[in-house]
Amino acid sequence: MSNDNIGFNEFKHEFTNRIKRALDQTFASNKNTPEIIEPMKYSSLSKSKYIRSLLVYATGKALDIKPNLLDQPALAIELIHTYSLIHDDLPCMDDDDIRRGSPSCHVAYSESSAILAGDALQSLAFQILSEKKYKDISEAVYLKWINYLSRSIGCEGIAEGQYLDLSINNKSTELEYLNHIYSLKTSSLIKACIMMPAMLQKNLKSSELLKLEELGDILGISFQIKDDLLGYTSSSKVLGKTQNKDEIRNQPNYVHLLGLDLTVNKLEKNKIYIDKIMCDLNIENSSLHEISNYIFNRKF
Ligand code: IPE
Ligand code: IPE
Ligand code: MG
Ligand code: MG
Repeated sequence: MSNDNIGFNEFKHEFTNRIKRALDQTFASNKNTPEIIEPMKYSSLSKSKYIRSLLVYATGKALDIKPNLLDQPALAIELIHTYSLIHDDLPCMDDDDIRRGSPSCHVAYSESSAILAGDALQSLAFQILSEKKYKDISEAVYLKWINYLSRSIGCEGIAEGQYLDLSINNKSTELEYLNHIYSLKTSSLIKACIMMPAMLQKNLKSSELLKLEELGDILGISFQIKDDLLGYTSSSKVLGKTQNKDEIRNQPNYVHLLGLDLTVNKLEKNKIYIDKIMCDLNIENSSLHEISNYIFNRKF
């Protein structure tokens, strides 16, 4: 693994544009465009931070993997992420009317359209991921990607996390249980952002792979804790989604269980731990480390 020393703003600009172009091309209309593309496109092209695809490309950079070999996983992960948000906002889930600064998919279209658009985005992700595009990527790697991503979003990942999240009906749950839910609902996909590029690098030791997966887990949990914090400290306008949604819905979160100060402390501790993993992996000056810092410092 190696440090890549490129300026973060430059990196963020380049790869945000790259994933935006890929999404635009995916939804570019032609004569035979299915009608369901409309709500799929509406949510997929709305204003995201694209943190997950930035993680994919940054991991690739640290592992010396060319960006074009990572376009399929980056795109698939963004489509899955958007699908998970469309369903998360539904009235039967978090009942959130705003997403990415615009009306949520079910508000702009209808509940049934949002459910189906989410379903179709999930299958589109796997369609894109399973197309054999590059001879440098073996069929074995394509299979590993599909296996890892499908596990990340189903009963061992996001779906279970969301199921548990929505099953809690009082705010005083245990912190350890909340961590378990965050790991499933949020870290699962963040881990995929790191592990899918790693599958292209044959020289990694199993100890390095384990450290990378641990990095994804704690980064995902920290991402969700930071989200909890922002729910209390930022406005709906800045967030592009409803502020303090958990309080409104009587859902537990870190700030509710620990208070603001201890939540900030917890994030600081997690950051120190992540920085140590980065040093152990010799990537303390990489774009991956910069994105990790961005996740902790972000304002929305
Ligand atoms: C929102 O993720 C969902 C959570 C896991 C908290 P992001 O904050 O990365 O969403 P976008 O893609 O930038 O809108
Ligand atoms: C977002 O979770 C959805 C997933 C992690 C799958 P939350 O419900 O906690 O996040 P926001 O606040 O709606 O973005
Ligand atoms: Mg939710
Ligand atoms: Mg939500």
